[in-house]
This record gives sequence, structure tokens and C-alpha cells, in this order.
Amino acid sequence: DWTAANIVDDAVAAVREQVGDKQVICGLSGGVDSAVAAALVQRAVGDQLTCVFVDHGLLREGEAEQVKRDFVAATGVDLVVVDAADQFVGALAGVTDPETKRKIIGREFIRTFEAAARDITRSADDVEFLVQGTLYPDVVESGGGEGAANIKSHHNVGGLPDDLQFALVEPLRTLFKDEVRAVGAQLGLPAEIVWRHPFPGPGLGIRIIGEVTRERLTILQQADAIARAELTAAGLDRDVWQFPVVLLADVRSVGVQGDGRTYGHPVVLRPVSSEDAMTADWSRLPYEVLEKISTRITNEVREVNRVVLDITSKPPGTIEWE
Ligand code: XMP
Repeated sequence: DWTAANIVDDAVAAVREQVGDKQVICGLSGGVDSAVAAALVQRAVGDQLTCVFVDHGLLREGEAEQVKRDFVAATGVDLVVVDAADQFVGALAGVTDPETKRKIIGREFIRTFEAAARDITRSADDVEFLVQGTLYPDVVESGGGEGAANIKSHHNVGGLPDDLQFALVEPLRTLFKDEVRAVGAQLGLPAEIVWRHPFPGPGLGIRIIGEVTRERLTILQQADAIARAELTAAGLDRDVWQFPVVLLADVRSVGVQGDGRTYGHPVVLRPVSSEDAMTADWSRLPYEVLEKISTRITNEVREVNRVVLDITSKPPGTIEWE
């Protein structure tokens, strides 16, 4: 019988069997898949698991704190947090090309994760396994087999160097996204984690059009937090696949506020509905919700004086702007 409880029992037994008494490492991204995979492995082998969370400074407001606090509270997992914001923002200085940004972020991520994994491996010499939150659609997309772990190598932790050899533990390999959510709920993860929208590995780094700076990250985090809060308040989280907010950091337009002329930046709201992110349609959010978001962002985020709505489907647009 397919129930979340049965899936958990089977997965726990399989992980115990595979891992034995060896140590396991798992990279947390803040997303659903890695969180559920880690929670399952934690349930199976307890403190043989160490999780690593790389805070690259490109996360949404409150996201790092949520992983540190809520995820640990829900699972009791042993967590190493690496605060690498300075390193990432530094490496991105002066860079505007989207693919170059992605490469830099991917490279820094692997470097940082690798260093953390080495520290863990040094203090416990029987680390043999690495957890990946690979889902069934990822397996199918890559034609199954060994390639599965590599499909997302630029944003997961696939491409680790040869001298760090791990066998993969992939407890979600047979599951679809909705099943992963059911399993997460069964494991006691909070709704904010289980129902979290997909978020790209490079984070807000690819939602700032132009150079990524600390100041711009703060502006986008504020606008993004307002959009998210209002979507949640309207009860629409589960009707929307994803809701990127994009800062057009190199564009300015004239506005007026109070008695004064403003010359600020636009943000783009990009709510989309989708089944699998391969295709998407722009979400028909209620006007009242859009109005509330627009009013709040322009009132509360000083540097933003214009809010626009992206009404492009995918194709021809992609979900993200970079
Ligand atoms: P696009 O923009 O290609 O995005 O329509 C499709 C889905 O993939 C996410 N995305 C990424 N996820 N690393 C990731 O982990 C990336 O570099 C990346 N680029 C896009 C995007 O958020 C959407 O869910």
C-alpha cells in the first residue's frame, strides 16, 4: 500500500542496510528535496549523519535562520553551517553575465562544500556516503543509471573532486515531488519547509540583473519577503509553483513620492504555475494581491519605485530572468 508511513519505513530500512555503521554527509540547500532526504537518513542512522549548509549570502530573507533553527529543531540533525557570504559576494564583484555568475557560484559552492566535507572526514575516518535528494524525474530525465546524480551537478554537490570519494545515498530516487512532500510531512518537517517553492541553487544571484552587491541583495530580499508574505497571507502558496522577484539593478525610472521626484529601480514580479518547470504559465494572481504587493514594496523598500508584472509563459520566456 502506498502511504507516506510505508515509504518512510521502507526507505529507513534501505538506508540502514546500505550505510551500515559508516558515517554520512549531506548538503542542505534550504530546499524541500535535500531537507526530506536528510530527515530520512537522520531517521535511519541518527548521529552517523552530518549535514552541511553553505550560506552563500544569496538566500532569501530569513532562509538561513530557518534552516539553522527549524530544520534542526524538527530533525535533531547534526548541522555544520558555513557562512560564506563574503567569499561569494567577493567572487561575484564586477560580474554581470548570467552564465559567468552561475559558474562562479557553482565553483565557490563546490570549493566550500569540499572544505567542510574534508573537515568532517578528517575528524571521522569512516565517512563513506553522500546523501543526494535526487527525485524520480531527475533519474528519468538523465536516462536513469549513474548519470542521474550529474544532471544538476552545477547546483547540487555532484561534481566533487576524485580524492573525495563517496558512495551516493539517494532515498528519494523513486519519488515524485508530491510524494516527497508527503514523506516530509510524515517525518514531522514544518509546513514552511515541506511546501517551500523551488528556489534555484544560485539563489538571488541570478535574480539581480546586473552586478551582485550586498546593497542590492538587501533590496531584493526586502521586496521578495513582501511578495512572499502577501502570497501566503492570501492563501495562494499552493496555487503558485514559484514566485521569483527580480531586481533590475541597472535600470532606473522616474517616479514621484510625496513632494519629491524619485529615480529608483524597478522590480519584476514573476509568479508562475507549472507542473515540472519544463513549461510554465504566468499566474493570474488576484488584482488585490498584486496591488497590496506593489503598494507595500514601493512604500517599504526605499530604492524601489516601480513594480511590474511579467506576463510571459515558458516558452518563450524562462522562469528565471537569467
Ligand atoms: P528556468 O529559468 O530555466 O528554470 O525556466 C527552471 C527551473 O529551474 C530553476 N533553476 C535553477 N535551479 N540551479 C538550480 O538549482 C540553477 O542554476 C537554476 N536555474 C534555474 C528555476 O528556479 C526553475 O524552478
